[in-house]
This record gives sequence, C-alpha cells and structure tokens, in this order.
Amino acid sequence: MQNKGILDKFNKDDSFTTVAEKREMQNLTFVLFGATGDLAQRKLFPALYNLYLEDKMPTSFSVIGLGRREWTNEYFQSKVEESLHAHSRRPVQSAGLQNFLEKFQYCPLDVTDKLSYQNLRSLIEQREAELGIPQNRLFYLSVAPQLVEVITENLKTSGINQTKGWKKLIIEKPFGSDLKTAQQLNKKLSEAFEEVEIYRIDHYLGKPMVQNLASLVFANPALGSLLDLKQVANVQISANETVGVENRAGYYDHAGAIRDMIQNHLLQLVMMTALHLPEKITAKEIALKKIEVIESIRPVSKEDAHNHVVRGQYEAGEILGEPVISYLDEPGVGMNSKNDTYFAARLYIDNPAWQDIPFYIRSGKRLDKKSTKIVIEFKNKAKEINMHPAEGIRSNLLILEINPNEGISLKLNIKEPSSDRFEPAYINFTTNSEDQSEAYELLLLDAMLGNATFFAHWGEVELSWKWIQPILEAFEADLIPLHTYRAGTTGPDAAEALLEADTFNWW
Ligand code: BG6
Repeated sequence: MQNKGILDKFNKDDSFTTVAEKREMQNLTFVLFGATGDLAQRKLFPALYNLYLEDKMPTSFSVIGLGRREWTNEYFQSKVEESLHAHSRRPVQSAGLQNFLEKFQYCPLDVTDKLSYQNLRSLIEQREAELGIPQNRLFYLSVAPQLVEVITENLKTSGINQTKGWKKLIIEKPFGSDLKTAQQLNKKLSEAFEEVEIYRIDHYLGKPMVQNLASLVFANPALGSLLDLKQVANVQISANETVGVENRAGYYDHAGAIRDMIQNHLLQLVMMTALHLPEKITAKEIALKKIEVIESIRPVSKEDAHNHVVRGQYEAGEILGEPVISYLDEPGVGMNSKNDTYFAARLYIDNPAWQDIPFYIRSGKRLDKKSTKIVIEFKNKAKEINMHPAEGIRSNLLILEINPNEGISLKLNIKEPSSDRFEPAYINFTTNSEDQSEAYELLLLDAMLGNATFFAHWGEVELSWKWIQPILEAFEADLIPLHTYRAGTTGPDAAEALLEADTFNWW
C-alpha cells in the first residue's frame, strides 16, 4: 500500500480529534508574519475579533504582528481596528474593543536577517511573561512563497520554535508550484516542524458546507442509499468566479487556474465529496480516507491529458453589464501569455464506491456568475429509454451550494396536473449566511485547539501534485489547446463538449 508511510505517521499523531471530543483552549502567542498584508486586514484580524466576541479566544493571548514596515504598536492597533470596521462579520462593539486591540504588538522584521529574530524572541518572551502565557506559539505565515523557507529556518536557528509549550505553523498556499518544489518545501518545513505541527490552510476546507460533507451521509442515511454508483450518473464540482486576475498578475500569470484553484481547492472538494462516510469516524480516519480517495484518482498521462482536460483564457467581454478587458490586457500579464484562467477536467476515482462514475471539475475567472457548488446528477431512466424530452423529465439532482449562498437542494420532476408534462421542482434547504462563521474563523479556532481535521495533510497535498504534474507537463509541451472565452460567459465551448461527449451537460 503506497500510503504506508503516511499511516505510520498517523499512528504517532495526536493532532486529530473527533468533533465530540472537546479540546481545551490554551493561552497562546499568535506570531503573524505578513501582518501588514491584505490577508491579515481582510480575513485574519476580523476572524480573531469575531472569535473574541464569541468568547472562543483563550483567556490570555498575545498577537505579535511582523512586517518590514516601521510601524509603532499604536499604528498597528489602529490598522487592526480599521480592518475590523471594514471587514468584520459582526459590527464592531465599543465594549471590549480596547482590551482586544491591546493584545496586538508590532515588531518590524527583515525575515532574512537572523539578528532581527533575536528582537522577535525577546518581544515574544516579554509578552509571555507580562501576560502569564505559557510558551504555546502559533506561527502564521501569510507571506510570499519564496520567504517561507527562510522564515522557518530562522525560527529554528533563533530558537524561537524551541518552546516549553507547543508550537504550530500555519501556512498559506501556494504549497510549491509543482510536485518537486512542493516536496522540497515540505522537506524544509519538516526540519523545523513535525507534520503534526504543520497546518496547511485551504480556506475551502473552512467553508461550513464543505465541513458538512464529511458527516452528510452519516447524518442523513436516506442520502446514503442515493449516493450509490447504481444511482449516480456523474458528479460536477464548479468554482466559478466573476472576478478577473485583480492586482495579482505577478503571481497568477505563473500559477494559472490549475495551480491557483484546481490542485488545492477543487481536489479538496473532490476528496470531501467522495468521502461518503456511512458511519461516524474520527477526524484522523477522515484524513486517511481522504488520502485513499486522492490516491485512487485514475492517473492522467501527459500524452492523454488533452482527452480529459480543457484550458481557457478570457477575452474582453461584459460582467454584470460592465465592459471588462481581456486577460492579455490586464496590467502585469505577459504580452503573449499562455496562462490558463479556466480549467475543466474529467476524472475517475478507481474505488468500489465510485468506479467509472465521472467527476467533472471546473474553475474559471471572469465567468457569468460567482458560484461554487457540487452537483450530483442521478441516472435518468427516461433518458435511458429515449423517452421524448418534451415530456420534461430531467435528471434528478442533488445540489450542494457552497458560495455565495449555502444550501442543499434536491431537484425532482413533478407532473403538471392538467397535462402529461413534467416540470422541475426543488426541495430547498438554505441557511442564512450572515449567521455563519467565516472560513478563517473556523480554521483559526481549530488550529488554536490543535484540531487538524480541516487542514490539508502532506499526503493529500503530495498526491494532488502527483495527479496534476503530467497535466502541467502537457501544458508546457503545448499538448493541450488554450481556448479563449468571452468574459461574462460560462467558459470555453470545449468545456461543454467535454461533457457532451459523455451525453451530459454542466449544471
Ligand atoms: C483563492 C484564489 O485561493 O481563492 C483566488 O487564490 C480565488 O484566485 C479565491 O479568487 C476564491 O475563493 P472564494 O472563497 O471566493 O471562492
């Protein structure tokens, strides 16, 4: 069994817990690299604040923000407050606000300069002493990928990561840019942190509907009998966006949709969907099952990739009535860039639960609407016996909406009383997204509690890159055509043709 090594690691691993197992929150220091950056402002500070309002933060905690700029503590705290007003899910409350902001201290740091880490160490220790916090340290790396290795190395050589309490490293994507670089990065990280101490963030795993997937069948046995290969015709997973490359061309023009969305988010959604767990199992077993799923995805060879993969790039068009420019005209994009802003693929999971059921995945920028969803299409008897489509019987669908709305719906065919025609009817269950915790709230809370269930284990990341690697090589060798599509549409025609070849269409 290929994942034997991974299994051995798990046996030593106590960072997984069942949802029912209550973990105790411990006082800690949150060391944030990239504290002046966009992610900190938009997501991390508001997430910490909402957890604080919900009384989920430790009784005593310290946040040390790091960046190259020479900010004072006061200025840093004012930036944190600004970010709360702009991005907090809950309105900012004056009660407790000052107390929250006082947890934040700033330390200018040149991440490549070993000496700066001594200042950092002194500040962490000084705050630990002042606030009576044990040496529990959570390092969050929200920095450019090329800085990750030097930071982890310096954390090690400076002794900051040798604590009397626990230490954890949270790391943002991208985790490498291909199989080899991901393996190199992992090797480097593992010199300073154990696998159980590394929390690889994939914010899709923090989305409440995605977290629900692991227990959906267990909690709804009725669904279990439907999600059977005798009933399911195909599974479609889409993460469509209306935004373009925004101001991220420097990164995106090298990454493309395949590295930005597919290798991580979409393959994580495939794993979570295919889990299909009829019983309640521990979080550790969930991680193992996910590895089994990704390991069972049928490999696609470089030569054959063009039969299963569609890539596209957007041209000028209109989004919500507004004209938008083509990818090639976006600032910072290479003149003749052949980068993909759209990716679709057909894949198969060679295990008894999903044998020969196609999974279609797609993701693109500048599409007609923002929609992240999983659609399970059931076999259609009327289609099998070639019944006239005018009678209106369409495939039943189970639709799991993830973003921007959350909900589950079941599409049925109901006969019109006065005719022989069937009309689609939906049974809908939607949740009010305003009351839902944000992905970063759930993920930060789990990391602080030491629950790694909804983080990407190295086994998952490595096997995802293994599946992707031949496709990347096919891209480089120009073996897969780059189709263009007009901004504001559903993507390239070739993506429709991919499903039509199997007598399906995208939902
Ligand atoms: C990020 C990608 O990981 O996910 C972005 O880098 C993308 O390019 C974003 O826009 C989409 O996330 P969400 O939560 O809006 O679907």
